Amino acid sequence: MQDPLKTPSAGWFVVVEGIDGSGKSTHLPFIQQCLSELGHQVVLTREPGGSVLAESIRELVLHSPMDGLTECLSVFAARRDHLLQTVWPALRQGQTVLCDRYLDSSWAYQGGGRGVDDGLLEQLSQSVEAGGAGPHLVIYFDLPASVAAQRRAKRDAQVQSLDRFELEDVAFFERVRMGYQRAAARRDPKTVHWIDAEQPIESIQKTLKEILSRP
Ligand code: ADP
Ligand code: TYD
Repeated sequence: MQDPLKTPSAGWFVVVEGIDGSGKSTHLPFIQQCLSELGHQVVLTREPGGSVLAESIRELVLHSPMDGLTECLSVFAARRDHLLQTVWPALRQGQTVLCDRYLDSSWAYQGGGRGVDDGLLEQLSQSVEAGGAGPHLVIYFDLPASVAAQRRAKRDAQVQSLDRFELEDVAFFERVRMGYQRAAARRDPKTVHWIDAEQPIESIQKTLKEILSRP
């Protein structure tokens, strides 16, 4: 039998990142549509989650109290299963995987937000990606934490229960935002695209279209 971990991948692996309230959910359908129009067969997935096991871990991470290291190990465990069960099989079939959050969220939230050290994050990052492809494109929605908090307050006015991250304060999300800078710095610059998420939605869509249309 062919070793699934040794098979080269063919599809694109596109990741969308940003602090809570930065506009990911608003723009994901547009990104999906652009990719489809460009001829990609798109599989939309998310982290933490995207496989049966990883979705169970997501519930715990979002709602059960735990310390920063436990949280970190949990999101990486979910990621390994998601890669093995969902992402790599789809890429091998030539499909394009559009992923709502990925590894950079761990550098941002567990590294920047919770203070998990870079050495451990690097070791875990290399371990979970061993044997398969990493992202070809990472799109970061960048927004000051105070603006994101105002947008979330408006959006969530009717929401009864927030998850453990949505309950964090502006200082936490500013550290998360800085964590994204460190996450991007370890990537091949050709794969990194920053979006100024303070721009109007139409301008952001224009930029996204340009990014996705490049070969
Ligand atoms: P996320 O999925 O990153 O948490 P959302 O896409 O839900 O963020 O956006 C948070 C809120 O901000 C939503 O109410 C959305 O309508 C609004 N929003 C998103 N992008 C913009 C923008 N560029 N300008 C103004 N408001 C925006
Ligand atoms: P998200 O799906 O963006 O939540 P929502 O749909 O409510 O906006 O992400 C869930 C949360 O998980 C988000 O607050 C960030 C957090 N998270 C981490 O802390 N580390 C990770 O590695 C990932 C992938 C997500």
